Amino acid sequence: MRPVTEIGAAVVGTGFIGVVHVEALRRLGVQVHGVVGSSRERAASRSRELGLPPAYESFEAMLDDRRVEVIHVTSPNHLHHQQARAALEAGKHVVCEKPLAMTSEQSDELVRLAVASGRVNAVNFNIRFYPVLQHLHGLIGQDGLGAVRLVSGHYLQDWLLLDTDWNWRLEPELGGDLRAVADIGSHWMDLTSFLTGKRITGVMADLTTFIATRRQPAGPVETFATDRSAKTIVREIHTEDCATILLRFEGGTKGALTVSQVSPGRKNSLVFEIDGAESAAGWNSEQPDELWIGHRGKPNELLLRDPAIMNADGRRAASLPGGHAEGFADTFKALYAAVYSAVAAGEPGDGYPTFADGHDQMLVCEAVARSARERRWAEVERTAAHRAEVR
Ligand SMILES: NC(=O)c1ccc[n+]([C@@H]2O[C@H](COP(=O)([O-])OP(=O)(O)OC[C@H]3O[C@@H](n4cnc5c(N)ncnc54)[C@H](O)[C@@H]3O)[C@@H](O)[C@H]2O)c1
Repeated sequence: MRPVTEIGAAVVGTGFIGVVHVEALRRLGVQVHGVVGSSRERAASRSRELGLPPAYESFEAMLDDRRVEVIHVTSPNHLHHQQARAALEAGKHVVCEKPLAMTSEQSDELVRLAVASGRVNAVNFNIRFYPVLQHLHGLIGQDGLGAVRLVSGHYLQDWLLLDTDWNWRLEPELGGDLRAVADIGSHWMDLTSFLTGKRITGVMADLTTFIATRRQPAGPVETFATDRSAKTIVREIHTEDCATILLRFEGGTKGALTVSQVSPGRKNSLVFEIDGAESAAGWNSEQPDELWIGHRGKPNELLLRDPAIMNADGRRAASLPGGHAEGFADTFKALYAAVYSAVAAGEPGDGYPTFADGHDQMLVCEAVARSARERRWAEVERTAAHRAEVR
């Protein structure tokens, strides 16, 4: 197999998460040949800050660079479909940020194109790659909790709490018709499906927009930016700040999820509990090296991330010895280690989320929107072909 250091990549988008992609790729030794952003000036200045080669003149120039085998799409949501499609058509392997597209028709097309191309395709559901969560995936796969009955939890943030908070995600034509659910709820639903090995089959969702008008700054704003422009425009908001969702998983497992981007004090709090017939597991993204395991008839356990005591799945995702904290950025490195091992082999492999998983979340999110609109349970509408593709 080729060494990963011979593989060339390039990144579309130079915002919050584009930089995290670049840094993770460089830690693995992948050659990052450049980035492209919304304007040449901004991409050029970001390239200088990161010590990268000069930014590409355009997305097309990036695709034309024969050294680039893998394209990472980290632009706003409305661009994912067209950029991922163009990259596949140019013969590149593609790592695309979530959500994979704006609609399930688009994500379905991407799955088909990716399969036909034979290229490696991945969706950036990075949270799966916290080492203790990889360990838990292995544990549940070995029936370590007994039959999984109940999955509960939340994903809460506060960065859109004020009516002066603004981001492109608030504009449906850029972010999509669902906001909090598609942006962060999709991570929780993908993660719990991955951990339990059970897809979501039905949802009953209640969506709420508490802040009906916001003041949009006159200039552009990057994600999590805290500076406020003096000049603002009043805009009506139609996407949800919060969601409460009842879930049905395959095999009779039940779930309940709360999602919010307006929860004061919660910066990025993904919490879940998975209750099995014998034991339970719980995790909080703000203490990501700790996995709680609950028992009925013996003392509960707290597993601190440590390659020496985790199973093979957990060990594979860990970069550092126990007691040396790992976090958000490390999950990208672990995810790309799996993706680039497939790229090095020259064909799609195992052990990372694919476009089929991204499409599955699009279908779940569309069921959430349908349920909220029709005020009743909605089934996740999968075709037989798609059911076979998602692991
Ligand atoms: N996996 C994760 O944990 C995670 C976290 C944050 C964001 N994301 C996803 O990443 C994407 C970007 O989010 P962000 O928070 O980094 O946003 P951001 O606003 O911070 O950055 C977006 C970047 O895209 C660039 N861009 C805009 N139009 C472009 C175009 N036509 N061509 C090329 N670049 C263009 C902008 O210049 C900006 O640099 C979103 O789809 C989001 O859902 C994923």
